Amino acid sequence: MKISVIGVGYLGAVHAASMAELGHEVIGLDVDTERIQRLAAGQPPFHEPGFEEILRRGIETGNLRFTTDYADLADAEVHFLGLGTPQRADGMGADLSYLHAAVDSLLEVLPARAGQGTLVVGKSTVPAGTARALADRIEAVDGARLMWNPEFLREGFAVQDTIAPDRIVYGVRDEYAARAAGTEEPGRQVDRARAPEVALLDAVYARILETGVPRLVMGFETAELVKVSANAFLATKISFINAIAEICEATGADVTDISRAIGMDDRIGSKFLRAGVGFGGGCLPKDIRAFIASAEDLGVGEALGFLREVDELNERRRVHVVDIAREMLGGLEGRRITVLGAAFKPDSDDVRDSPALDVANQLQVAGADVVVTDPEALDNAARRAPHLRGVADLDDALTGADLVVLLTEWRQYRDLDPAAVASRVAAPRLIDGRNVLPLRAWREAGWEVRALGRP
Ligand code: UGA
Repeated sequence: MKISVIGVGYLGAVHAASMAELGHEVIGLDVDTERIQRLAAGQPPFHEPGFEEILRRGIETGNLRFTTDYADLADAEVHFLGLGTPQRADGMGADLSYLHAAVDSLLEVLPARAGQGTLVVGKSTVPAGTARALADRIEAVDGARLMWNPEFLREGFAVQDTIAPDRIVYGVRDEYAARAAGTEEPGRQVDRARAPEVALLDAVYARILETGVPRLVMGFETAELVKVSANAFLATKISFINAIAEICEATGADVTDISRAIGMDDRIGSKFLRAGVGFGGGCLPKDIRAFIASAEDLGVGEALGFLREVDELNERRRVHVVDIAREMLGGLEGRRITVLGAAFKPDSDDVRDSPALDVANQLQVAGADVVVTDPEALDNAARRAPHLRGVADLDDALTGADLVVLLTEWRQYRDLDPAAVASRVAAPRLIDGRNVLPLRAWREAGWEVRALGRP
């Protein structure tokens, strides 16, 4: 099928390459000329395991092309919207301006296929109500339909999550018509006349659906809310265990044992129960804020009051690490601190709202002499925080440190040999901000160690 993906940021680029991998003829569009040139040359603009391979394969087979010109999209049967919806500069809500600008441009080319059945599929994370408003504009073009198909991919697993997701959600204007068309029965061919948009998206995802991945059909608003509810739940789970970590520190209990023990109850589950410096990235923080803002706009702000706590608790984790550092060093002024990690999580070079970078910055502002190291994210860190000193070589970064602070749990940091590191630093002091190091081994090698929520 001929497909376009509009907006080739993280989500869009991975989606475009994955759709080409499934055998479709894909064209990716972005207004960022440099990004398009890089992608067209087979160079990934971000670090994502497995992405480069499918990007190159798509280009080599001719299945995957890139453009900055909407006119090149005119013959596509399906258009995916992969635009970013960052936090607004003037508040907590989502900035939908990229999405609206893309739809404005798309509306200029949609009439080229008038009457032939064209599907527009939103993948961006948006406040409830966005899809219905966009559908009114898109469906004014004869034969054009809109669906909302939220994306649940995790950075670091983006390709796998796109090609083998644990569920696919379709938001449609009329869920009752879609049900009548047979969407409720797994494996049944959907009646094309009654729900043409569902039949079309099923055809796009045919190879994924054949593997038995559940596909859930629901109304626009419900689909929009599935996405933000999922991220809000994940953020809440992390802040919950971090709240328990605060209690642990006041009582001498160990939060990692609590996680292990409560996680064995499968109603609770062990994932996303890792206490530490908290969540960051381009999604969870801004999504919970946008969710709060949208609930307030709807007049039901009280319902999500707890998400403010979740956000505040998460911010407090970062300040807490700075406080521990100050306590261990008896003041921060002029002290050499090495921060291990700049990315918001391992296997990513993304530094958006990264706890590691934020803590490094706060330490520096408080007068410390900070060195940041990271195997992949130093270029992005330098762009976002040019005043921080980045050192790529791990040994060099550790040399002379008065304190080492682990804030992103890259494999190479988890595997560090405490005795070898001790011989490089000025003083063997460590904060394990992710609760991943074998503390006993570090203590036995002579380190003074503090961890979050552990004795
Ligand atoms: C998140 C969701 O997990 C995806 O399902 C969603 O599609 C994506 O946002 C999105 O909205 O696009 P991602 O931002 O890639 O994915 O990162 P996560 O793996 O969720 O991690 C978020 C943060 O939580 C990281 O900083 C991580 O270090 C932290 N975290 C995670 C913890 O502090 N503790 C945990 O137990 C788990």
